[in-house]
Amino acid sequence: MKRSPREPLVVLPHTLSEITGPIFGQDKIGENDNDLTGQHRDEPIGERIVVSGRVFDSNGRPVSNALIEIWQANAAGRYRHIKDQHPAPLDPNFSGAGRTLTDEQGAYRFITIKPGAYPWFNHYNAWRPAHIHLSVFGHAFITRLVTQMYFPGDPLFAYDPIFQSIPEERARQRLIAKFDLETTQPQWAKGFKFDVVLRGPEATPFET
Ligand SMILES: [Fe+2]
Repeated sequence: MKRSPREPLVVLPHTLSEITGPIFGQDKIGENDNDLTGQHRDEPIGERIVVSGRVFDSNGRPVSNALIEIWQANAAGRYRHIKDQHPAPLDPNFSGAGRTLTDEQGAYRFITIKPGAYPWFNHYNAWRPAHIHLSVFGHAFITRLVTQMYFPGDPLFAYDPIFQSIPEERARQRLIAKFDLETTQPQWAKGFKFDVVLRGPEATPFET
């Protein structure tokens, strides 16, 4: 009780450094940056998927021209990174990183493969549920959001301290993409929808 605030919260007006941010031009994004299956000579091994969605601000307005960067493990659950020495194969046709800009409706789309679950050393027999890391940069520095997208029905949710670190069940659900038949491409790839809300009470939880 001694540490709890006794005065009402003070609203600090945003300054220029908070309401401005970097401008990303289309020329900075390469042709295959949003297609992680098309960045090498051959296609990567794994279950091909389309991940798409929209980015919204705290008032539910679409955020256009937001930079979305993703990174993920390959289908065997291994990152192409020096620190990942998990004994699973690397895929010469998969770098595991992509980026894109949202369009006028705040929409984005990635083509990739479903990442595998991977072990880590947090506790005995610790495994991360399959996930894709996302960084979203809206129009201003305060709209930076770093989070992880999960896949529906993963049996590892209950054992993952990172997923469980978000106390509210409703907020946790916002991190799970939805299987979407409309995004699904016949004879080619399953589709998942993942919308991102940058701020406000419905914000997508921040998770690195
Ligand atoms: Fe990860």
